[in-house]
Amino acid sequence: MRSFILIVIASLFALAYAQGSKGTVCGNQGLLGNSRPKKFVGECNRSDSWGVLSSHNCFDRGGSKYLCVLSGVATCIDGPAKLKKLNMEKGECFA
Ligand SMILES: *[C@@H]1O[C@H](CO)[C@@H](O)[C@H](O)[C@H]1NC(C)=O
Repeated sequence: MRSFILIVIASLFALAYAQGSKGTVCGNQGLLGNSRPKKFVGECNRSDSWGVLSSHNCFDRGGSKYLCVLSGVATCIDGPAKLKKLNMEKGECFA
């Protein structure tokens, strides 16, 4: 289990490195709650959605959460400080 986690972490770094300055492209399919029953993922609440933005634009507009789907797993990144460092695209921005 532990080595599996290490492999996952190593591949995430490899992926981030391969994508370089282009950043990570999220695989979100539509907005939260539109095509799926889930209306919340962690602190990401559909009611607060500002739609699909890059993490950079989300931060610039004053957003504070970002939902990114990677390998079919949706993660809500919570907090402007984290958002600022993300360098992700095609994810969903939340107030
Ligand atoms: C999501 O936001 C709506 C509108 O602000 C609020 O009524 C609801 O309680 C929130 N849900 C959660 C789980 O925070």
